[in-house]
Amino acid sequence: MDPVKAGLLGLGTVGGGTVSVLRRNAQEIARRAGRGIVITHAAARNLDKPRSFDTAGIELTSDPQSVVDHPDTQVIIELIGGDTLAHELVMRAIANGKHVVTANKALIAKHGNEIFAAARGRGVMVAFEAAVAGGIPIIKAIREGLAGNHIQWVAGIINGTGNFILTEMRDKGRDFADVLAEAQQLGYAEADPTFDVEGIDAAHKLTILAAIAFGIPLQFESTYTEGITRITREDVEYAEELGYRIKHLGLTRRTEQGIELRVHPTLIPERRLIANVDGVMNAVLVMGDAVGPTLYYGAGAGAEPTASAVVADLVDVVRALTSDPENRVPHLAFQPDALSDVPILPMEEVQTAYYLRMQARDEPGVLADVASILGEHGISIEAVIQQEPQPGSAHASVIMLTYRVPERNMNHAIAAIEALSSIEGTVTRIRMETLDAS
Ligand code: HSE
Repeated sequence: MDPVKAGLLGLGTVGGGTVSVLRRNAQEIARRAGRGIVITHAAARNLDKPRSFDTAGIELTSDPQSVVDHPDTQVIIELIGGDTLAHELVMRAIANGKHVVTANKALIAKHGNEIFAAARGRGVMVAFEAAVAGGIPIIKAIREGLAGNHIQWVAGIINGTGNFILTEMRDKGRDFADVLAEAQQLGYAEADPTFDVEGIDAAHKLTILAAIAFGIPLQFESTYTEGITRITREDVEYAEELGYRIKHLGLTRRTEQGIELRVHPTLIPERRLIANVDGVMNAVLVMGDAVGPTLYYGAGAGAEPTASAVVADLVDVVRALTSDPENRVPHLAFQPDALSDVPILPMEEVQTAYYLRMQARDEPGVLADVASILGEHGISIEAVIQQEPQPGSAHASVIMLTYRVPERNMNHAIAAIEALSSIEGTVTRIRMETLDAS
């Protein structure tokens, strides 16, 4: 089947990320969507600007209307931002019978009611996962995954730039303006960064979250909005002394009287998971009556995290265009004929680091014996703790942390250690994972 052709509006940070992710993961994306997805046309304000991503095969223009009107493009990806030109172009794409994928929170928060009505009238999809919390699939989680719940409240750190600024102020004592400049340089901030620091961007996103959580129209104008510009380093430090973190939070709660819809700096007890969400990361806590609290965490801004959500929306659109309407989302996420036969690794081949605990006779040379067995099996030791023997005992607890090694080597090493006459009983092993991003 021919690939679906998409037209892209905007070749900035997220546009570039989208081009790169679609290219790099083309095969995997086609296995999920049932056919390929290619960007055939793209519009950018300045065509001469040097770009770090590959635009080969894409017809570039400075006229976005020509992309929206092009007979070949079935889907329009709107990544221009703002709510004037983007609004015009999206309405025009819908009128032309094209599906729309957008990351534009201002557009959806302010004009979503009108846009969705037009899309329903024309029978096209408008997908906007990337508009809230960057790469976190929070729209899908609330709209689909939590569909059985009466949602009670949603609270989130939903502006990456603001969270980055607060974190750097707290951890490194940096100045507000200095951190903001870095966030701009890293492509996190809005074109007008006052949207980030005055809470307007978070208010756009919260408006969308409230609508899908409670089934209410989008009401941006009713959102209470307060930014982080008045927060000082002293506030951050005093809060910390009192056991709190200051986070810029969007919060919407259903009460008997009505719905709270507010964005403002907030003290949160430091033991809460969400209080420990730092840097550009976002997190959204959703409280459902059936499921209880659920927490969603991930990068809230940046080229490829946001592109991740844009491309997921594209896959949804393409599935709807392509597959049997009864089975739009394949049961196992990939199309049945695209499942692959990658082997599951036997546990012996899996590599992890280890915590080892053993009872060793309290005499010279025992640690050296254990270390030499580990060395013979290619296992490096990261740390050792030796406890004093308990009164009346001839054995001491020895705890070791090792670097990563295949499980097979560790099995052999443990068997050899347990065979030492100076080791009593079995060796306790607990696998370790740092779960860092690399
Ligand atoms: N400026 C936004 C932020 C970008 O920092 O969260 C992602 O919406």
